[in-house]
Amino acid sequence: MKSIDEYRIEIEKTIQSLDLPGGKLETLYSPIKYALSAGGKRIRPVLTLMAADAFGEKSQEAIKPALGLEMFHNFTLLHDDVMDKSDMRRGRMTVHKKYDENTAILSGDTMLTLATEYISMVEDKLLRNILDCFNGMAIKVYEGQQLDIDFEKETKIATSDYIEMIQCKTGALLGACAKIGALIGGATEKDADKMYEFGMQTGVAFQIQDDWLDTFGDSSTFGKTIGGDINNGKKTYLYVSALEADSQTAEALKEAFQIPAGDVRVKTVTRLYEKLGIAESAKKAVNHYSSLALKALNSTSLSDDKKEVFRKLAEKLIGRKK
Ligand code: IPE
Ligand code: IPE
Ligand code: MG
Ligand code: MG
Ligand code: MG
Repeated sequence: MKSIDEYRIEIEKTIQSLDLPGGKLETLYSPIKYALSAGGKRIRPVLTLMAADAFGEKSQEAIKPALGLEMFHNFTLLHDDVMDKSDMRRGRMTVHKKYDENTAILSGDTMLTLATEYISMVEDKLLRNILDCFNGMAIKVYEGQQLDIDFEKETKIATSDYIEMIQCKTGALLGACAKIGALIGGATEKDADKMYEFGMQTGVAFQIQDDWLDTFGDSSTFGKTIGGDINNGKKTYLYVSALEADSQTAEALKEAFQIPAGDVRVKTVTRLYEKLGIAESAKKAVNHYSSLALKALNSTSLSDDKKEVFRKLAEKLIGRKK
């Protein structure tokens, strides 16, 4: 197996060599190039390449599907930024802000189809299984995104409902990235499912960390506007965990979310979270879900040194500042 950085560079090169049409259809394709060139962390395709190598030294065969999975991820971001009214991503303007909403919708649709095309570039005998995994995951992501939006209008969300929502919107994709890589590498169905579980639980920890960064992160490193979740009334880990405090605090929290969106709301809610030590509980939750991920990883038939590379990736993700 190669190092995480080597896999990332390989993906970066593949993205750079993508030959998307221009000319008359520049309006459709240049936002795609813009989105893909913005320098995300590329963790999803890296996970796919790593799994393909770990189970059968097949990262070369996995490069197109891995690109497809990164393309799918970027498609979800174009639409997510419209839904979340987000102006900034990866330190620059989001697609709907730089172009317009119709562009974000249609360029996003195009990315979804390109993604499916790349993911289908596998041996015939794997195709059925990999497409089932991909399609099942995509439906989960849309369901999770719908729950995320529905929750904006509710005040009382149980932690278990929140976890189910993020397992869908974020966990499913990381799970599928690991599983598809494993299948390309020739893993047994049993090992591939365990790798799904590893990716999925890592994704849950990753999303809790994302929620934390959205309030307590540094915008210049994180690349997104701090306080976006608070202004959108998102039911983040911070929120659901604060609700579990005493009823007085829960009331204060609900009131703070009645303040019109803006700096005052963000400051008031952030102060409440600070008072409750929510950052600490978020850290604990991140550790809990990464330990579930490692448990799944440990139950695979991979050798210890291979497990170690995945462990390193998970560690890097959950300690992230960007
Ligand atoms: C953003 O994902 C969406 C979430 C699931 C939180 P990343 O944080 O992986 O975004 P990039 O691709 O590195 O920009
Ligand atoms: C990420 O949720 C889930 C998907 C994009 C599918 P967020 O809305 O928290 O992601 P960011 O913070 O905008 O990257
Ligand atoms: Mg969102
Ligand atoms: Mg968002
Ligand atoms: Mg977020």
